[in-house]
Amino acid sequence: MYALISSFFFVCAIASPFPKHEAKPLYWLLAGDSTTAPDGGWGDAFLSTTVASDSSGHNYGHSGATTASFRASGNWTSVTRDINTYKSDYQVFVTIQFGHNDQKNTSGVSLSQYKENLLNFVKETTTAGGHPILVTPLTRRNFQSDGKVAENLATQRNITIEVATYSKTKYIDLNKASETYVNAIGKDAASKYNLAAGDWTHLNEWGGVVFARIVSDLLVEKYPVEFEAHTKANDTLSDIIKAGEPA
Ligand SMILES: *[C@@H]1O[C@H](CO)[C@@H](O)[C@H](O)[C@H]1NC(C)=O
Ligand SMILES: *[C@@H]1O[C@H](CO)[C@@H](O)[C@H](O)[C@H]1NC(C)=O
Ligand SMILES: *[C@@H]1O[C@H](CO)[C@@H](O)[C@H](O)[C@H]1NC(C)=O
Ligand SMILES: *[C@@H]1O[C@H](CO)[C@@H](O)[C@H](O)[C@H]1NC(C)=O
Repeated sequence: MYALISSFFFVCAIASPFPKHEAKPLYWLLAGDSTTAPDGGWGDAFLSTTVASDSSGHNYGHSGATTASFRASGNWTSVTRDINTYKSDYQVFVTIQFGHNDQKNTSGVSLSQYKENLLNFVKETTTAGGHPILVTPLTRRNFQSDGKVAENLATQRNITIEVATYSKTKYIDLNKASETYVNAIGKDAASKYNLAAGDWTHLNEWGGVVFARIVSDLLVEKYPVEFEAHTKANDTLSDIIKAGEPA
């Protein structure tokens, strides 16, 4: 028996000389609304400018999506299907960022349903063999008369963090980081990221690059072991953002 056990450990030691180092690259699945989606969100720029060449992903962000419609439309099924497709070759991470549409009084999604829906996305990601990351919703850039942006997603931010804490899930506070940055650069500089004149929610192409860098920097700073080796850095851009200067 002793010999059996010791040879078992011997085999493990040979098979895994670096047990703490996960060699697989990353596959990113981005779940969210228009602020993640192509043409208006940070998702495409995240994949094209921050993900290292060993890694890849797919942006499933969808304009108008709530935590309920994302499932009803079949987009969530695509996410779980992709986890299964990619998990043998990659560590699959799923970012989950909702709130802008859930919060509308016409969404049909109550705060308790929003919370439950986020928790179900987390659980189903894990069950499928992926790694969930909750992301608090990107700030809107509507400035008030005091020169600061309106904090109109604080409830959704707090619920997202509550779900992450309760379920012991990784999360990044994009809402706070994006709000801090936008307040630092001010209204005129922030308007340069608008998808169209007067659209203070959606991002143009360069806005996507800037806010994707904020997402990436939050991930790498909070979880360096998981993400640093699989991230394309841009220290110039990161430093400009950290200094609170317009990028
Ligand atoms: C995502 O949802 C939209 C509707 O909101 C739908 O048109 C589209 O086909 C869905 N995409 C996938 C891959 O399920
Ligand atoms: C729903 O929200 C809209 C836009 O924010 C607002 O104009 C409207 O009064 C609200 N309706 C109700 C029933 O709360
Ligand atoms: C959100 O949580 C913060 C503490 O992190 C609290 O100060 C704030 O009042 C909360 N906001 C809302 C709208 O619940
Ligand atoms: C890095 O960021 C700087 C400053 O925003 C930008 O000019 C440059 O094109 C970026 N470099 C790469 C390789 O994306």
